[in-house]
Amino acid sequence: MKFFIDTANVEEINKAVALGVADGVTTNPTLLAREAGKAEDIYRAICAAVEGPVCAEVVSMERDGIVREARELAKIGKNICIKIPASKEGLMAVKILEGEGIRTVVTLIFSPMQALLAAKAGASFICPFVGRLDDTGQDGMEMVEQILQIYENYGFKTEVIVASIRHTLHVRDAALMGAHIATIPLKVIEQLIKHPLTDTGIQLFLKDWESVEKR
Ligand code: G3P
Repeated sequence: MKFFIDTANVEEINKAVALGVADGVTTNPTLLAREAGKAEDIYRAICAAVEGPVCAEVVSMERDGIVREARELAKIGKNICIKIPASKEGLMAVKILEGEGIRTVVTLIFSPMQALLAAKAGASFICPFVGRLDDTGQDGMEMVEQILQIYENYGFKTEVIVASIRHTLHVRDAALMGAHIATIPLKVIEQLIKHPLTDTGIQLFLKDWESVEKR
């Protein structure tokens, strides 16, 4: 499973790169709003920090506006992928952009049928938002399981980026289900490494090492 980091913060991205777990980056307008500087400059800095896909989201809502905005964003770097919300206008734009060789990510996916339509439109990636679906009392990971089954049934090449990840169990379940990618906040990536028995084990080894004859 590939790990993307879900942030527009270059320091966080560099930390994930150093850990060897930054196969790509997802951003959105909310994440960009937390950073200083112009969106284009932030995207350029992110593209310089990682080799994999860098997902930049459009804010236009009509097909032609989305296509225009996407073409401009795509000029920023060869690894830019265009995030487009799941909508009729969005799917029409996906078809045009993929036809031009611009990779798209259909985002704000909350049902397997939205995911099926995004794949039929030719999207390179989709982002099902599991945490936000959990918040409504529905099961986000069950949605992901159903999407993966549908894609397997028909051999779709669209890759599933499990998004809106809130905790380590989302990551574990995404990996067990065979999701292609999980996009994860740095805080959760760091939690994945931790185990209290590892910490106490290290302390014990260090203490015992003091009693070992050194030469
Ligand atoms: O990648 C989507 C993600 O940024 C949304 O996460 O926690 O705002 O639902 P959240």
